[in-house]
Amino acid sequence: MRAGWLAAWLCVAAATGGLRAGDGEAAKLAPYYPTPQTIVGRMLQLGGLKAGEKVFDLGSGDGRIVILAAEKFHAQAVGIEIDADLCRQSLARIVKLGIEKSAHIVHGDLLAQNYSSADLVTVYLLPDSINGKVQPLLDRQLKKGARVVAHDFEFHNWTPEKVVNIADDGDGRSHTLFLYRK
Ligand SMILES: C[S@@+](CC[C@H](N)C(=O)[O-])C[C@H]1O[C@@H](n2cnc3c(N)ncnc32)[C@H](O)[C@@H]1O
Repeated sequence: MRAGWLAAWLCVAAATGGLRAGDGEAAKLAPYYPTPQTIVGRMLQLGGLKAGEKVFDLGSGDGRIVILAAEKFHAQAVGIEIDADLCRQSLARIVKLGIEKSAHIVHGDLLAQNYSSADLVTVYLLPDSINGKVQPLLDRQLKKGARVVAHDFEFHNWTPEKVVNIADDGDGRSHTLFLYRK
């Protein structure tokens, strides 16, 4: 999975010249490359998400993790997404499903949010973003016992409690999930 993912990122970087925090814009920490629906449930299961818990998806794309967390796991789910179209798409689906009370999308920079209330955080971002920017933020903000599930790219300075390798997502692609606990 990683090669395809990185290729997608290189295409975006080449097309845009890359976005940097110093440009006065939020840093683009990954391109839009959705987690397959079959893997979304596995991430939330691995994170041990329970009804009423608070989960944040960092860079929520089309909102699929937020929506499943709210609809099937009965969690309070929040997605942070920088792309306005993806936010609109997520919100339209949330409204259509009638889950506005438990599924929320914040249009903004995931690095400018507060995750101190999180029971679970899900992350599918580029390795440099995870290790250079997200990890220091979560180290500062997460409460003791909070869990983090990372898709395909690990947090190098943390030791995973569990690593799950999925050989085939139904489309012939493999995935690795990492569970961390503060
Ligand atoms: C690989 S996709 C993952 C989408 C979703 N979490 C999933 O697993 O299906 C990464 C997402 O992060 C968003 N993103 C990148 N940088 C961001 C930032 N600084 N703040 C908020 N969202 C960001 C991208 O627009 C993209 O939708």
